[in-house]
Amino acid sequence: AFFLRVLLLLSPTFPGNVSGELLVDIGSGPTLHQVMSGCEVFNKVLLTDFLEVNRQELRSWLQDEGGCSLDWTPFLQHVCKLEGRHRIQDTQPSAWTEKAAKLRQVIMDIVPIDVNHPQPLALDVLPSAGADCLVSSYCLESVSPDLAAFTRALGHIGRLLWPGGHLLLIGTLGMSYYIGGPGLKIPTIPVNEAQVCASLKESGYTLIRLEVYTWPQDMKLFDDASGVFFVKAMKE
Ligand SMILES: C[S@@+](CC[C@H](N)C(=O)[O-])C[C@H]1O[C@@H](n2cnc3c(N)ncnc32)[C@H](O)[C@@H]1O
Repeated sequence: AFFLRVLLLLSPTFPGNVSGELLVDIGSGPTLHQVMSGCEVFNKVLLTDFLEVNRQELRSWLQDEGGCSLDWTPFLQHVCKLEGRHRIQDTQPSAWTEKAAKLRQVIMDIVPIDVNHPQPLALDVLPSAGADCLVSSYCLESVSPDLAAFTRALGHIGRLLWPGGHLLLIGTLGMSYYIGGPGLKIPTIPVNEAQVCASLKESGYTLIRLEVYTWPQDMKLFDDASGVFFVKAMKE
């Protein structure tokens, strides 16, 4: 059920006209689903996370020497299906192995980040022009102590983007906690659609598109979220 939920969440194909040189994933965690489509339309992808343990898991996948504890095969296959990538003959490499190779080729680095800091990345990490696009999934609302901090974090990460660059933001709605592991209930700030829109505006973004998916009751497994939002916005 968890796998189904994650797949339903992601619909990771990149929206039209979002492409360029550098894509930065904010708060990657140990996961790759959020960049599986972006790796096809950006020349470089930078992964970031607050925790070394997560960065190490990503490094293990990148090195491809068997030290990785997560198997991304079904996710790669699903994204290929969503993107309409097929292979007719069995003798050709499969689309998903090509995607895995492409992802390993474009990931330029995996670096520390703190979205609660006005300068979230170390100074020398990004080119001076900044990134063309940021993607961030389930990070800001789970690491912000209150709505004001969520809004500030949007402003902090916005400094990594050049004006006209895009933000693709995925997050939970109405979530006051999630289960991080056995006996580990982590409190979070519940945000609603109107608050997300207001925070984006206050932090210097123009909202281009907002979509909401409401959870069926039986999919509330690890948190009390009412649904998820998908935002496409542009830095002013
Ligand atoms: C719920 S996970 C989301 C992971 C991944 N993006 C995904 O979609 O599954 C939130 C991530 O935010 C990271 N994080 C925690 N504090 C942070 C901070 N201050 N700045 C940036 N990321 C942070 C955590 O380490 C964790 O990997």
